[in-house]
Amino acid sequence: MSILNILKHPDNRLHIVAKSVTHVGEVTQQLIKDMAETMYSASGIGLAATQVDVHERVIVIDISNTRDDLLVLINPELQLKEGSILSEEGCLSVPGVYDQVERSDRIMVKALNAEGDEFNLEATGLLAVCIQHEIDHLDGKVFVEYLSRLKQERIIKKLRKTQRGIYPRVSI
Ligand code: NI
Repeated sequence: MSILNILKHPDNRLHIVAKSVTHVGEVTQQLIKDMAETMYSASGIGLAATQVDVHERVIVIDISNTRDDLLVLINPELQLKEGSILSEEGCLSVPGVYDQVERSDRIMVKALNAEGDEFNLEATGLLAVCIQHEIDHLDGKVFVEYLSRLKQERIIKKLRKTQRGIYPRVSI
C-alpha cells in the first residue's frame, strides 16, 4: 500500500470528469487500498479518485469514529434525492477551508463494491452529504464552487499563500 499525493485546489486536474470503471480487478482493488490509506493518513472521511489524479469513478468513505468502517463506491449513481440539509463541509483538496453547503438530506445510491458486485444504499445526514460531495469530485466539481465568487477568490488567495509556506524555495 502507499500514500498517494492529493491534488490541491486550484488545480485543473480536479475538474476532469472521471470515467466509469469497466472492470473491477486487481488494479482497481489496489487503487482502493491506496486511497483508503491516503484518506486515513490525512484524517479525512472521504476521498474520490479524482483527488489522487486517477480519473475513474471510485470513492472511499469512512464516517465512523473508530475509522474501521470503509465504504467503497464504484460507478456510483444517485437514484433519488430528497429534502435538504445545510452543513459545514471541508475537503482534503481545499485544506483549512470550511463552509456551509446545502445538499439533499436523503439519497438512494446504486454502486459496485470492491468485489464488483452491485448494491443499493440509502443514506441520510452526514453520509448523504459525503456521498454527494465525493460524486461531485468525480464530476470535476469542488465544493467551494457552491460558494459566492468573492468567497472563492478569497479561498484561492489564501491557499496560494499557504502553499508558498509549505514548499519553501530551494536553490540547487
Ligand atoms: Ni473533497
